[in-house]
Amino acid sequence: MDFSGKTAFVTGAANGIGLGICRALARNGANIVLADIEPTQLDIARHELSTFNVRTRTIEVDVSDAAMFERAADEAEAEFGNIHFLFNNAGVTLGAMPLWEVTPAQWEWIFGVNVHGVINGIRTVVPRMRRHGEAGHVVNTASIGGLQVNPKLRNGSYAMTKYAVVALSEALALDLEDSEIGVSVLCPALVNTTLHASSRRRPARLGGPYERPGADVAKAWQSAGLSPDDVGRRVLDAVARSEFFIFTHEEPRAWIEDRHARILAGFDSIARYNISERAR
Ligand SMILES: NC(=O)c1ccc[n+]([C@@H]2O[C@H](COP(=O)([O-])OP(=O)(O)OC[C@H]3O[C@@H](n4cnc5c(N)ncnc54)[C@H](O)[C@@H]3O)[C@@H](O)[C@H]2O)c1
Repeated sequence: MDFSGKTAFVTGAANGIGLGICRALARNGANIVLADIEPTQLDIARHELSTFNVRTRTIEVDVSDAAMFERAADEAEAEFGNIHFLFNNAGVTLGAMPLWEVTPAQWEWIFGVNVHGVINGIRTVVPRMRRHGEAGHVVNTASIGGLQVNPKLRNGSYAMTKYAVVALSEALALDLEDSEIGVSVLCPALVNTTLHASSRRRPARLGGPYERPGADVAKAWQSAGLSPDDVGRRVLDAVARSEFFIFTHEEPRAWIEDRHARILAGFDSIARYNISERAR
């Protein structure tokens, strides 16, 4: 997969993993549309990328808003022509809290960004990629939390959205089987980003920015994570190799094996119950 001279549309591009992906894209010569809800950070990111010999454009967008996403894609195409790579990466977290404490507005926010944001990206950009017919790739950022609910983190609302992104990506890969468009799902474990500061990005219509209890602890914990630049490099390498699941850490393999063992134990139990015998 050649990135040089191609156009990439990256959501959540102003910080963290999105910016790490943008740096990797810039190093590989791609033109980049940086889409994010934080205009000041977008300007800083664009300034930094100006040291690379690529074209960039920033677009302020709330990915949960379908009409805004559509306008952003129109602007991107008007400036760069065909879009070849779509990185549905923007995401937020509510942090640790029991499910019964999550308010309707918080559900709307986290599903709006983490799930509908990805759906909006697919609805808006994939038909355009199919129309021009050139090779391309879609990467959806889920999480290792999209494959198992972490008993230490207790962030079930976040895991729910990321399970949805994994399922959506598996479905999209089937839907695009006969095309030149590949699909991957990025499932990182801990990365050193500003995800702990998600609460400063809650839109006004859902209550606006707020102070999240425990954000300082989360920040300190998150700072021990992998560098977003390493993740960016890993992602581009995986796209070039057409890997579907993109993992960033070895340790979670044991967590996934553990979860699958629990699922299979459920089947062992049904075998003991002997349902098929009783059906005869
Ligand atoms: N950091 C980790 O440890 C980790 C692990 C697994 C998955 N992830 C996922 O990686 C993705 C990137 O997160 P990150 O860790 O780089 O965090 P981050 O907070 O540094 O970056 C997220 C970006 O999304 C943007 N954003 C938030 N709401 C938005 C909206 N409504 N519309 C457009 N942009 C919006 C933010 O402004 C920010 O630039 C997320 O989907 C996150 O869930 C992160």
